[in-house]
Amino acid sequence: DIGNALHSVATPGVSRETLERLDERVADAHDRIGTGIDGREHGYAALALPETADAEAIRTAVDPIDCEALLIVGIGGSALGAATIADALDVDIDVYTLDNVDPEYTSQLLDSLDLSRTALHVVSRSGTTAETLANFLVAREAMESVGVDWTERTLVTTGGEGNLRALAERHDLPALDVPAGVPGRFSVLSTVALPVAALGGGDVEGLLAGAGTEAETLSGSLFETPAYAYGATTYALAERGWTVNAMMPYAESLETFAEWFAQLWAESLGKDGVGQLPARALGATDQHSQLQLYRAGPRNAMVTLVRPRERADVTIPETELEGLAYLGGSSLGGLLDAEFEATEASLAAAARPSIRIELERVDAHGLGELLYGMEAACILAGELFSVPTFEQPAVEWGKRAARGLLGGGEFEEARAVEEKTRLV
Ligand code: PA5
Repeated sequence: DIGNALHSVATPGVSRETLERLDERVADAHDRIGTGIDGREHGYAALALPETADAEAIRTAVDPIDCEALLIVGIGGSALGAATIADALDVDIDVYTLDNVDPEYTSQLLDSLDLSRTALHVVSRSGTTAETLANFLVAREAMESVGVDWTERTLVTTGGEGNLRALAERHDLPALDVPAGVPGRFSVLSTVALPVAALGGGDVEGLLAGAGTEAETLSGSLFETPAYAYGATTYALAERGWTVNAMMPYAESLETFAEWFAQLWAESLGKDGVGQLPARALGATDQHSQLQLYRAGPRNAMVTLVRPRERADVTIPETELEGLAYLGGSSLGGLLDAEFEATEASLAAAARPSIRIELERVDAHGLGELLYGMEAACILAGELFSVPTFEQPAVEWGKRAARGLLGGGEFEEARAVEEKTRLV
């Protein structure tokens, strides 16, 4: 619902006429996206995953693994999708993510796990990312040190080449391929992130079916396509100075989704001096912190409010205090909905744009729809911004610099860091 992003006397958002003009560009972008999907072109191939992902192959790969906990070793697009699925869906294993290389956190986490009941899913599309390879080496040594055969508990997902592929081949590890043409941050509906659902008894087919339902809504008009309405409106708002996009789900289970979104939006669109800064928020918690800024700070922040229409609820008990009588007999869900609506209204009253996204419920189907819709929205926004959505040169710069500094190859980026350090 983009109603609160539309321009009115009170809200300097984006006018209906602007969106009608923009719709011609949306139609062209939709044609481009359709050609990309049909040709399985780099990046666009991600939007073909509801058709091309092989749920059966994923189930077969995880089948021999018997575990109570899963440690995902990956970073960025190779970790956030799985973490989002694990946190949103009711998976019946404990899931941990080793993405950062903070030594204190890594050793505390490894010490706390029963490694004989833990499986590793090591994920790197390039197979060369220093953080992921380093964490894998540390984790497998921790397993060896307690007499656990890590080769029996490790699943790899990687691209065609790279050090991770070489390790998988050398130790005969089960290995899934990252599908061709699917960049890291667009890989949630693939072998990169779906194994967590398969291992944890989650509904892999439901996720893909939800994504497929959303794919069917894509049409040549933003007025008929929710994902394009989101992508086009956020683009138009960013062009008019609303350069911060606070993603604020009203569901704890979607908190990691906001993190996933932040990566998708920042890494895909932040190029050539354009883009929109994604902020992560959680309703209602951040009504008591960040909302102050979004409502009364610089006039540059739009808010994306997300909520499920249905959820399990908890009744608030009656109370002996008259002052709290309004709570008794109501429910936590009712209170959360009231908070949601209050936030939306308070932003509108302060002439700050917001967009409302509702999903039926946070289940596999709903999550599949949401994730696919956001990817389509992002690709559409990338077309409108005219940026190379599927590249991430700034991220790659840092990766090469880190490898070079550790002696992992001759990289001019590492020399630039050394030169800068010398000057300091
Ligand atoms: O979206 C991206 O391209 C990045 O966030 C990558 O996923 C991240 O850098 C990890 O890369 P890799 O999967 O090659 O280890």
